[in-house]
Amino acid sequence: RRWQSSLPQPDHVDRSDEESGGEIDWDNLGFGLTPTDYMYVMRSSPEDLGAFPRGELCRYGNIELSPSSGVLNYAQGLFEGMKAYRRPGRGGYTLFRPEENARRMQFGAERMCMPAPSVDQFVSAVKETVLANRRWVPPQGKGALYLRPLLMGSGPILGLAPAPEYTFLIYAAPVGNYFKEGLAPINLIVDDEFHRAMPGGTGGVKTIANYAPVLKAQMDAKSKGFTDVLYLDSVHKRYLEEVSSCNVFVVKGGVVATPATRGTILPGITRKSIVELARDRGYKVEERLVSIDDLIDADEVFCTGTAVVVAPVSTVTYQGRR
Ligand code: COI
Repeated sequence: RRWQSSLPQPDHVDRSDEESGGEIDWDNLGFGLTPTDYMYVMRSSPEDLGAFPRGELCRYGNIELSPSSGVLNYAQGLFEGMKAYRRPGRGGYTLFRPEENARRMQFGAERMCMPAPSVDQFVSAVKETVLANRRWVPPQGKGALYLRPLLMGSGPILGLAPAPEYTFLIYAAPVGNYFKEGLAPINLIVDDEFHRAMPGGTGGVKTIANYAPVLKAQMDAKSKGFTDVLYLDSVHKRYLEEVSSCNVFVVKGGVVATPATRGTILPGITRKSIVELARDRGYKVEERLVSIDDLIDADEVFCTGTAVVVAPVSTVTYQGRR
């Protein structure tokens, strides 16, 4: 099975330490897809017994998939989101806590009955992808190179069962701010009709299947001028879960609270970092059920995520009231 008609070998990758490419408007990156030069591909076949023996860089481009692959038919897939930044001063690149993404992928793979790369394999593959695409890392202060690791059931399967073959792939794209508001505060609407996850479901892992189902709510919200949707729990319709693409925090009287991750909420790496940083700085941080009343009563609200980073919230609309 071929992925590309001409796969360059890893030692053909241009590793010259170029500055960021010239033709891009670095000041207006946003979160659109700018294709880069290379992606990383690694496969696990049945004879590999759940291991990923070796991967390689190849030219970024379309991939071949069986129409009956597990990912296309049964959404047996996970993704990660991570960022690499140009390091100030002596050059080089900084990744933000890549081992956390590697472990989260392993956790999700267990839930989705997939083998996963080891932490070392994952992190090395990310580093290779960044270096191969180094000309696409934005200048300091202009954004980051976003890495999108994917893990998918690429082997063919017709009856509902785990796929016989898996593919781990990382591609990269330079990005700026996620929301069109840039760094300005965003406007959320609380949805009490659609839910993102349910107890016993997959809301707590980064499966691709968690994301298409929120599109309808998100599109409705955008058409009404809101930035994004804040979802409530599906049982009581009363407790905050998360926004389509990020976690949520509320602050009241200097106490920081965020919904506890009990299986329906994605354990965000930026979320975890904010909890740790706030505690280190002496704030009381509560990971608990956060109700819609807590939100209405809050002094401050903000969202966190890899793509979003930290986004202050300007307004929240719930049942027609702001
Ligand atoms: C990220 O923040 O990296 C995500 O994966 C969210 C995605 C919907 C952009």
